[in-house]
Amino acid sequence: MTSISGQTHGGHVHASQAQASHAHGGWRVERLITPLPPIHLKMTCGAAFELLSEHAATPSLAVVDEAHEPIALLSRQDFYIAFSQPLVRAVYEKRPIARLMASHFIQSPPLQVDYALSIEELKELITTAAPRAAIDGFIITRDGKYLGIGSGVDLLGISLERAREQIVDLEEARRVALRANQAKSTFLASVSHELRTPLNAIIGFSELLQRQYAGPLNEKQREYISDVLRSGTHLLTLINDILDLSKAEAGKHEIAESEVDLNGIARLSLRMLAPHAESKNITLSSYLPHRPLRLWGDRQKLKQVLLNLLSNAVKFTPPGGHVRVSALVGPDGAPLLVVEDDGIGIAAQDIDKVLLPFERVHNQMSLAAEGTGIGLPLSKSFVESHGGTLSLDSAPDRGTTVTVRLPPERLRFYGAGCAAESSSLSAAE
Ligand SMILES: Nc1ncnc2c1ncn2[C@@H]1O[C@H](COP(=O)(O)OP(=O)(O)OP(=O)(O)O)[C@@H](O)[C@H]1O
Ligand SMILES: [Mg+2]
Repeated sequence: MTSISGQTHGGHVHASQAQASHAHGGWRVERLITPLPPIHLKMTCGAAFELLSEHAATPSLAVVDEAHEPIALLSRQDFYIAFSQPLVRAVYEKRPIARLMASHFIQSPPLQVDYALSIEELKELITTAAPRAAIDGFIITRDGKYLGIGSGVDLLGISLERAREQIVDLEEARRVALRANQAKSTFLASVSHELRTPLNAIIGFSELLQRQYAGPLNEKQREYISDVLRSGTHLLTLINDILDLSKAEAGKHEIAESEVDLNGIARLSLRMLAPHAESKNITLSSYLPHRPLRLWGDRQKLKQVLLNLLSNAVKFTPPGGHVRVSALVGPDGAPLLVVEDDGIGIAAQDIDKVLLPFERVHNQMSLAAEGTGIGLPLSKSFVESHGGTLSLDSAPDRGTTVTVRLPPERLRFYGAGCAAESSSLSAAE
């Protein structure tokens, strides 16, 4: 039918089949249509020139057949270059455009896309199969019939618009997630609070019973009441931790600051853990400065951090292992607390995970070990509320080192004395 090289139907880069059912609503090629008049095959080169001059903003015009089906794209650039040669113009001015295209342009086939294609698919198509369309534009059709021209500039514009809309959507999703998280924290905080009141009564009355204020107990009753007391106290610790965690998430952590003796809390925590370590045949040792190391912080919370870290170290170290706590001052004056063990360790891919609430690594030892998965995230948030950092260094089967680093400004007193005292503790210390 026509002799236009490389631009027959078969040569088109077609995307009409890709109806893009998954396209984001509204973001379709339809939005890019500029309904410019097409050039008919029999139109003269002079008339085509006029038409292009009339529509100065378009990079090209479509050439269509009698059935209004596109067969080629007349690029303004190619056409102007050819037509600017005086001889060519003189010869072709009154001749059909098809003749000039056949003899002067050897183009890659034009990109022809269905109006329902998604913008994303169009971008993909242009980048991978038809890069020239970014400059020359492309033909938009419906059921194979010509609808209009789309340009690279318009595609860029709409992509920017889309990106802006996506930013707004993302921001909204972030706000929703934040609100949901706050609702969760508030819920946890109020539930924990509500549970604490009756639990304190249970513990209080059990204590009264245990002390036999209400009359003598037989042996079985004493055994039962101490079970009630132990379980109640355990539950209370758990509830308090959850309450602390939800406060931390809601950003409502308060720290009660005073001068804290770091050596003192390290020794106290070691003593508290010693019976448990001994029962598991784990050696506890310490490396503490032989001089006062005092810092500005929340004594209760720092002690809780140390207890959590030490209890983890003992819990996740098999019998015969070692756990060591060190308190020192870094070269930059930062107070440091380090808890090391040679236990089961944590795989690299799990390190970030265990710092999140309720996350535990599942292996034989941790399955057997009691826990909820809040010790580490809570400790981290306590340290962070001091402006410090908690970092984990661990290797499976080699052990774990947790380093708590507090800001140098918190160091209050690091008295004169010998460097450090190193000692091995037993449960008896
Ligand atoms: N020293 C350690 N060695 C090996 N694994 C550890 C160590 N400390 C923590 N983990 C891993 O990190 C997980 C989370 O620790 P985290 O202290 O938050 O929870 P938990 O000890 O399991 O329970 P909870 O502290 O609430 O009683 C643990 O379940 C364990 O899998
Ligand atoms: Mg723990």
